[in-house]
Amino acid sequence: MTELINLCITSEVEEGTPLAVSLSGLPELLVCEFEGEFFVTDNTCTHGNAKLSEGYQEEDEIECPFHGGTFSIRTGEATSFPCVIPIKSYPVTIVDEKVCISHAQQPS
Ligand code: FES
Repeated sequence: MTELINLCITSEVEEGTPLAVSLSGLPELLVCEFEGEFFVTDNTCTHGNAKLSEGYQEEDEIECPFHGGTFSIRTGEATSFPCVIPIKSYPVTIVDEKVCISHAQQPS
């Protein structure tokens, strides 16, 4: 079974100002906006323990604040050195101005 998890409202995120979201049971997430679309990825760099929300958004990429590696906010792909391992990206659904992701529930 899949449920939608509400991360934030769309007006809380502006292009160039990503939002970090912490919810119990999930890794810390990063919500970014680019050209009116919203994207959700993990917020922790795969090269070190940096918060990507403290880095810099340049179009559809996020630059890590520690060593300047970059990731695609669309796919999570590592796009420049020293980052080589992708971050996880999550399909986004917008419901009533809320940015949501799907979360698979374990059957009980
Ligand atoms: S910790 Fe992110 S590039 Fe090194």
